[in-house]
Amino acid sequence: MRAIGIQRFGGPEELVEVDLPTPEPGAGEVRVRVHAAAVNPTDITFRSGGRAAQLEGRRFPLVPGVDLAGTIDAVGPEVESRLQVGDRVIGLVNPFGAHGGSYAEQVVVDARSVVAAPAGADLFAASTLLLNALTANLALDAIAAPPGGAIAVTGSLGAVGGYVLQLAALRGLEVIADAADGDAAIVATLGATTTVPRGDAFAAAVRVVRPDGVAGVVDAAGLVDAAVPAVMDGGVVVELKGQVPASARDVRLAPISSFSAFTDLALLSRLSELATDGALPLRVAEVLPATDAAEAHRRLALGGLRGRLVLDLTTFR
Ligand SMILES: NC(=O)c1ccc[n+]([C@@H]2O[C@H](COP(=O)([O-])OP(=O)(O)OC[C@H]3O[C@@H](n4cnc5c(N)ncnc54)[C@H](OP(=O)(O)O)[C@@H]3O)[C@@H](O)[C@H]2O)c1
Repeated sequence: MRAIGIQRFGGPEELVEVDLPTPEPGAGEVRVRVHAAAVNPTDITFRSGGRAAQLEGRRFPLVPGVDLAGTIDAVGPEVESRLQVGDRVIGLVNPFGAHGGSYAEQVVVDARSVVAAPAGADLFAASTLLLNALTANLALDAIAAPPGGAIAVTGSLGAVGGYVLQLAALRGLEVIADAADGDAAIVATLGATTTVPRGDAFAAAVRVVRPDGVAGVVDAAGLVDAAVPAVMDGGVVVELKGQVPASARDVRLAPISSFSAFTDLALLSRLSELATDGALPLRVAEVLPATDAAEAHRRLALGGLRGRLVLDLTTFR
């Protein structure tokens, strides 16, 4: 089978078409014929070697990619009957694991990381859901604000930020979201209660809305120190890249690892159902042929996207 992989860590140009043996599912695993793979920031880290230590001893080519959508084409032993060959599914694959990532025609995945694709959505759109909705949900769990409480979000037009807005609204939270000039209206449609200008003055602007600060901030833009003053004493700061602010005051840092929840089947199913219901919109910037993966990585790194870039893994066929 064909895949997009790297022969060494490096820039986007290292993403090339490779031939790999067709993987066989083991106990508790299914094989998915991949239709679409969303391109996420973590794929850039994987490609560039930012987490090379986790791949020590593994042989190249290595295949990036976490989010996938496709159809099941083989079911391993000891898989529950809810999953059948031919099912339209979405899933999460850990590219640091033995089977590699989702930029491949066929991927073997832990059955607990595979759920029915949102009804009515095409598979390109469906592939954009799970990683970022899951991350947003984990961030809100870490803050654990009660209904009626307030949180703040940076990077609110991004994939994680957008899902934080929607999931927070479902929890009955007030959400103060950053927005660039001209983006306030679209951020409001995603579920923000109030928008404030994005950038270093973010925290001061949040304090104008909530003088005592918010229960927590989800810092999807990576402002780090500039985000911390938005939070009330005793509140929570969620740094998605694991950065540690120089001065954390009396706030709790909550690093998030979405990989740890990849097999939370009940949560993944619920997120897919919320997308079916329209509560979690699926935002696609553009679908590109898989062989344009390098271009997709360049464009993601440049910023300014509205929605996710998606690779079409059917273009090899
Ligand atoms: N820990 C985990 O398990 C986990 C899981 C998923 C994601 N993440 C991380 O979470 C972060 C967000 O992911 P994502 O998929 O949402 O990325 P994304 O879709 O690229 O969104 C990032 C958003 O931040 C905005 N932004 C960038 N610089 C900014 C600044 N200085 N001030 C305000 N906004 C700024 C971007 O706007 P422009 O495009 O207009 O610049 C974009 O809207 C990434 O660092 C990713 O690696 C971590």
